Amino acid sequence: MNNRRTLKIAKIETETDDIKTYSFKYSLNAKPGQFIMLTDFEGGEKPFSISDCTEDVFSITVKRIGEFTSHLFQKRVGDYVSIRGAYGSSFFISKGKVLLVGGGYAVPTFYFLSKVLKENGTEVTLINGARTKDEHLFSKKFNGLGIKVINTTDDGSFGEKGTSVDVAKRMLNNQRENGKMFDFVYASGPEMMMKALQPLLDNVEYEFLLERYMKCAIGICGNCTMDPLGIRLCVEGPVLPKKLVEQLTEFGKYHRDASGKRIKY
Ligand SMILES: Cc1cc2nc3c(=O)[nH]c(=O)nc-3n(C[C@H](O)[C@H](O)[C@H](O)COP(=O)(O)OP(=O)(O)OC[C@H]3O[C@@H](n4cnc5c(N)ncnc54)[C@H](O)[C@@H]3O)c2cc1C
Ligand code: FES
Repeated sequence: MNNRRTLKIAKIETETDDIKTYSFKYSLNAKPGQFIMLTDFEGGEKPFSISDCTEDVFSITVKRIGEFTSHLFQKRVGDYVSIRGAYGSSFFISKGKVLLVGGGYAVPTFYFLSKVLKENGTEVTLINGARTKDEHLFSKKFNGLGIKVINTTDDGSFGEKGTSVDVAKRMLNNQRENGKMFDFVYASGPEMMMKALQPLLDNVEYEFLLERYMKCAIGICGNCTMDPLGIRLCVEGPVLPKKLVEQLTEFGKYHRDASGKRIKY
């Protein structure tokens, strides 16, 4: 569904000082991993992953970073924004036992994925990481799903001390020692988190949700392509399978700004 729709904000939840969830009464029919483009009519249009989607309501969870997201934070319930999408590839819905490794504002998209995996009968273990307790997201919401959750913070202020990759390493090493444990691994978070996770996943299939600067979101402008494959993350991504991630020479090395200039990680 690509046409633009103007929607009223139905609900706003404050998750942390700098993160809010916006919900809209609209049948978006999206799949986990997909994103929308949103404008508040004031400062451009930006991509946001879908953190929940039911038959008649969908949500996005937004971190206040710069100009656009600061404008959005001033919106109230009943104000209007305009969206298009849902766009992009979605996560494979695996059977068996799966591990979700998430960090920062990219974790909420795993709420939608976890719900769909649960409905599918899949056994879900989530490592939910953040830098501090104050930045940790969705812990109550994930607990409500009845999945296994391991919370981590870099400073140990909530859950285990360490990064989500530290915990994943321990679990995946156990897997190696004790025989097959996970059938599939998903990751969504800072690119350097996924880069650190990648070498641990040589014996398991995975998908990563990647981000690149997006303008058109419909495969025309080329701003979101990744070297050397020329994959457009807005169309072929943002969810990419192992066999493609392994071929991306720019993964974990650089991304591009709005002008296409390379920015090193
Ligand atoms: C597929 C995808 C899903 C995303 N999902 C979420 C989400 O669920 N929640 C969330 O808070 N953020 C998400 N983002 C990032 C979000 O789009 C940026 O944080 C937002 O655009 C920042 O805008 P700003 O003006 O506030 O900040 P700016 O100061 O303009 O930008 C801050 C940083 O945000 C990134 N950014 C800015 N504009 C874009 C753009 N058009 N496309 C991609 N990245 C951009 C750049 O890395 C930039 O350095 C997602 C991005 C992508 C590509
Ligand atoms: S954002 Fe234009 S091709 Fe992807």
